[in-house]
Amino acid sequence: MKLPAPRPNLQALRPYQVAISRNSIYNLSANEACLGPSLSAVSAAAAAANSLDTYPDGSASALRNAIGKRYDLDPSRIICGAGSEELISLIVQAYAAPGDEVLFTQFGFIKYELAARAFGAIPIRAPESDFTADVDALIASVTPRTRIVFLANPNNPTGTFLHEAQVRRLRAGLRSDILLVIDAAYAEFVATDTYDNGLSLARSTGNTLALRTFSKIHGLAGLRCGWGFGAQELVDTLHKVRGAFNVGSVSQAAAAAAIADIDHEARARDHNIAELAWLTDRFQSAGIAFIPSVCNFVVVRFNDAETCQRALEALAGQGVLAMPLNGYGISEAIRITIGTRDANEAVLRGLMGVRHEST
Ligand SMILES: Cc1ncc(COP(=O)(O)O)c(C=O)c1O
Repeated sequence: MKLPAPRPNLQALRPYQVAISRNSIYNLSANEACLGPSLSAVSAAAAAANSLDTYPDGSASALRNAIGKRYDLDPSRIICGAGSEELISLIVQAYAAPGDEVLFTQFGFIKYELAARAFGAIPIRAPESDFTADVDALIASVTPRTRIVFLANPNNPTGTFLHEAQVRRLRAGLRSDILLVIDAAYAEFVATDTYDNGLSLARSTGNTLALRTFSKIHGLAGLRCGWGFGAQELVDTLHKVRGAFNVGSVSQAAAAAAIADIDHEARARDHNIAELAWLTDRFQSAGIAFIPSVCNFVVVRFNDAETCQRALEALAGQGVLAMPLNGYGISEAIRITIGTRDANEAVLRGLMGVRHEST
């Protein structure tokens, strides 16, 4: 019997990998917010749960207004999605035809590759330098078929970033018909003056989109909500391909409250800055090799894949679930989310016993 066959480009596609939990006490595998969401977001979600029988506002107007107010953006140039990962898919669907090239960096967020493959586009990875995006390598990887460049800034899983001037140089070095997507999922954690979240380029150019998420610092990963901002024409095009009611009413209400709670966001950022420094200082003293990060996670490196596996097991022994990076072709490193002090102490206990690559 002949069965339905999926499109050929889906055959080689492996679904997004998540770390497997072994009864962990501390799940530090998904870069979630260790302080949780704002209480006002939780209250807004509970209130919205009284109207589950009606469709959400398909245009997410209250949420777009709240985002616009917070960042001084024109709400009509904002689009909301069921997580920023939905927006990544919509961008590829709208701007890359089968056979077109979608460019990103060697260790760039894996969703770019999955989205490109899902729509029959060709994913191209440009080499990085020191686990950091390399502007020249990206520009050199452009071909006549390049349609989209995704830059995760800062990047997951490496935790590294490009300075504002480097991002501007990238934009200037790309053809004007190439869409540059600056995915700033971790922007709120970055405490460096020379970093820019991409909103200014998205405001001033017709070919740059900025993406953000409520899953990270806002602690709403379970609600699946993200947003994008860019030129009216770009945003209007994405509206054509999104689902009519793509963001649920509970998500919209909670996200609008979260983005207004600046104090909670500041607490989460301060906690991360302090705990990231605490943990990496101890890594340094113990000779544990890591990639310096500006995010709410850090990559720890080992001599080889076997030592890395032992580290994952040692962490599991302390109740910690971390993320192996095999999916990125890095079999000798793991990504660990910055947690509460208890969780970070458990990470340290786990790693202390394992032999490490010297820094
Ligand atoms: C760089 C980057 N972009 C986008 C996303 C997607 O986030 P979400 O779909 O939860 O908004 C993630 C999630 O880990 C990420 O790391």
